[in-house]
Amino acid sequence: MKKRVLSGIRATGRLHLGNYLGAVSGMLELAHSNEYETLYMVADLHTLTTPYDPANLQAMTRNVVLDYLSAGLDPQKSTIFIQSHVSEHTELFYLLSTVVSLARVMHLPTYKDKLKQYPNASTVALLNYPVLMASDILIYKAGLVPVGIDQEPHLEVAREIARKMNDIYGTNFLEPKRFATNGEYVPSLTGEGKMSKSVEGSYISLTDSLDEIKKKLAGAPTDSGKGEKVPETGGVANLLKFVELFEGQDKRKYYEEKYVGDGIRYGDLKKELADAIFKELKPIQERRKEFENSPAKVNKIIEEGAEKAKSIAKETVREVKEKMGLV
Ligand code: TRP
Repeated sequence: MKKRVLSGIRATGRLHLGNYLGAVSGMLELAHSNEYETLYMVADLHTLTTPYDPANLQAMTRNVVLDYLSAGLDPQKSTIFIQSHVSEHTELFYLLSTVVSLARVMHLPTYKDKLKQYPNASTVALLNYPVLMASDILIYKAGLVPVGIDQEPHLEVAREIARKMNDIYGTNFLEPKRFATNGEYVPSLTGEGKMSKSVEGSYISLTDSLDEIKKKLAGAPTDSGKGEKVPETGGVANLLKFVELFEGQDKRKYYEEKYVGDGIRYGDLKKELADAIFKELKPIQERRKEFENSPAKVNKIIEEGAEKAKSIAKETVREVKEKMGLV
């Protein structure tokens, strides 16, 4: 049997380059390998843990499906589905929650961060976020999860739950590992921190035109272009990271040598970088248009995805209920 892979993205808005390189590129890599059976979902239930607009949720959820398809995921190869369509996730979530202590989830850094960001979001659902996520993964007995490094604390909880369930009830859950990509850390265009949807001027959207990319790069801070040592933080360091991600390690070296030599001309660097970024985004944008123009096809992908996912999920829930003495 092939090893299973599961990942998900919350339906909170359009993807940017940071999401793309941090998670989606890993999903693509595993989908294209024949060693794995891949399942990729939209975590619409997790979207409910922070403020959202019910009138927009369906559209947001569909947007993530379109992002998956336009990034190049092939529904023939990967099961693409929406979390809430497979109600077994919430059923298993409850069963798993019986082995998780309150202290464990209360002290998670991800929980504290979310509370800081949304002080009114102090709900049991937010506290349960990692338990539902563990259910998403364990229900498919997935061993590998392509997600950004920020999700590591949640994977740690999933592993603990798997161990506990196996010890106490004799289930055979796998302990899921994170699959890391080299776009792990995508810096902000502002020169500070990482690319983030919530920081204006920090990100490039997957739907940006070449002109928009140029404009955004033009706003990225630089320096005089030369010095004794290549900066390790700040605007220039971030630009060089982008060069590395989109034009390769050699190009980065070339600029690093120029920096300590006769100097970098940032106008040229930014122009070349904008072209390289757009070259990656163009096929994505073209595929997106095609899918946007074929809503029936997308509906069918979503329906078939739910069916396939459900057939696996049902089996796991049946097994766990049996082991826990419910049936
Ligand atoms: N918590 C993930 C994020 O914010 C989204 C997610 C929900 C997820 N369920 C998952 C990721 C299961 C991987 C596996 O990015």
